[in-house]
Amino acid sequence: MTTTITITGAGGQIGYALLFRIAAGDLLGPDEKVRLRLLEIPQGLGAAEGAALELQDGAFGLLEHVEVTDDPAVGFDGCDLALLVGARPRGPGMERGDLLAANAGIFGPQGAAIAANASPDVRVTVVGNPANTNALIASASADGVPAERFTALTRLDENRARAQLAQTLAAPVDTIRRVPIWGNHSATQFPDVSHATVAGRPVTEALDAIVGDVPSWLTDTYIPRVAKRGAEIIAVRGSSSVASAANATLDHVRDWVHGTDDWTSAGVMSHGEYGVPAGLISSFPVLSVDGEWQIVEGLEVSDWARARIDASVAELIEERDAVRSLGLL
Ligand SMILES: NC(=O)c1ccc[n+]([C@@H]2O[C@H](COP(=O)([O-])OP(=O)(O)OC[C@H]3O[C@@H](n4cnc5c(N)ncnc54)[C@H](O)[C@@H]3O)[C@@H](O)[C@H]2O)c1
Repeated sequence: MTTTITITGAGGQIGYALLFRIAAGDLLGPDEKVRLRLLEIPQGLGAAEGAALELQDGAFGLLEHVEVTDDPAVGFDGCDLALLVGARPRGPGMERGDLLAANAGIFGPQGAAIAANASPDVRVTVVGNPANTNALIASASADGVPAERFTALTRLDENRARAQLAQTLAAPVDTIRRVPIWGNHSATQFPDVSHATVAGRPVTEALDAIVGDVPSWLTDTYIPRVAKRGAEIIAVRGSSSVASAANATLDHVRDWVHGTDDWTSAGVMSHGEYGVPAGLISSFPVLSVDGEWQIVEGLEVSDWARARIDASVAELIEERDAVRSLGLL
């Protein structure tokens, strides 16, 4: 079988970091052939065409075909997995409302093009920021495609959250489990360690011996470090996160397709779980079962965690309302 994967913004940085790993089998495994559709705007076509030439030169056995286009109908034709990476960045002097409106102008038509052209069981992952609200707009424009098929990437935040714990606890990162991100992919996100374990032991207990006052460390050091990691990368590297964002995108889609053996995080449509208003795309602890994300329900949420979840969800509501007030949702 061959899977058709559409990457928007394929001529950009994250696109370049994604394409070769997908062609090498890092997304779907060593036996699954892939067909890539690289969707760009006219200014980005040269970079995407160059990447397509390099893909050819990679002589990847799994890569059946590459097509470069600026036509969404062609780009999403028969698409099984859509990675919506291309977005409008915030320009100088651009207000948040302008940014939301500019992106609604991208993600609305892309949602409609997905509904009209993609495969009936298409799975969409929005990476381009503001990712949660862009996913909501795309979903609202995709008549006939279940809202559950539209997700926003918060896996990079979770990977950062686990990696910071691993470093503090001097433990291998794969022994750290159950660190969900709640809310928006933004500085208000809430990386939640209350249910986290390290090699099966509660993380809070392990932290107690190392950082002393755990609540203060979480509030003053850990949460800001995770939430502002993107800014830290820009300050140190001089450019935004690229390879780690591409890696997290692959983690998200691979888990969605192949399933999970424990919780992870994804921005998915709320049906009112944990008091998050229905109809928002918010990050939750999730499991992937039979190709569907399921929100992990019934977790105890302390008052302290509740306040942080509420603050991030309030930002999602503001974003949704701003787009609504412009008549774009
Ligand atoms: N969710 C996350 O965890 C996460 C992490 C890192 C970056 N991001 C976001 O990912 C996005 C891409 O980042 P990047 O570093 O690759 O940016 P980039 O500027 O290098 O590339 C973006 C590409 O998108 C293209 N593009 C713009 N509008 C398009 C449209 N309508 N259709 C198709 N292509 C379009 C541009 O031509 C450009 O080639 C940004 O919005 C960034 O903020 C998200």
